[in-house]
Amino acid sequence: MIKIAPSILSADFGALAAEAEDVRAAGADWLHFDAMDGEFVPNISIGLPVLKSLRKHTDMFIDAHLMVSRPGRYAPRFCDDGADLVCIHVEADQPHEIISALKDIRARGVKTGIALKPATPGGIVLPFLEYADMVLVMTVEPGFGGQSFMADMLPKLRGVRALAEQYHPGMDIEVDGGIDERTAPLVVDSGANVLVAGSAVFGKADRAAAVSALRMASDVKA
Ligand code: DX5
Ligand code: ZN
Repeated sequence: MIKIAPSILSADFGALAAEAEDVRAAGADWLHFDAMDGEFVPNISIGLPVLKSLRKHTDMFIDAHLMVSRPGRYAPRFCDDGADLVCIHVEADQPHEIISALKDIRARGVKTGIALKPATPGGIVLPFLEYADMVLVMTVEPGFGGQSFMADMLPKLRGVRALAEQYHPGMDIEVDGGIDERTAPLVVDSGANVLVAGSAVFGKADRAAAVSALRMASDVKA
């Protein structure tokens, strides 16, 4: 099943609870929460206090994407503050530290994800797969919303899906960056089943129309 995960990076931060309710009512599946530290990526967004407040206003599944260096320092707190899934970048620390952070997340009953920047080869996921419930293949350089989709990520996405299937058949594979009606069918065809969309949902006035357009565009059964 395809899941649509609007990224609140493109929402009105002054009215976040209402924005979350708007996309929930529009039929979105998850809420994608982008945390940035100004070090792992050249931007600063939102963090723990915002997550904690938002959690009080929505029962949606919150998918936290941590674009932070040494994420093990903060991952447990994202769990405690209300994330349903915490996704950390494999480039953000040494492999043993990433694995230890994934174990800490799972110990709190929260789902885990590993994210890959565009330059990171797909094969890197292998040692992490047993600790991960989801793989996130970035389809833009992390840091900003509204960038153009990198079509050269499609072969990597296919490779990650193939590797993941050997270990966890049906595992969630998420894509993030430049996903819209035009690119959704390409990523679904290449193995993605969770589609993050910032501009393509929160950037539109009619969120219900935006979510259904993405869902219809994703309906590309072979
Ligand atoms: C970028 C973030 C994305 C971003 C996507 O670093 O991880 O989640 O909000 O925005 P769009 O869909 O506009 O490319
Ligand atoms: Zn993201």
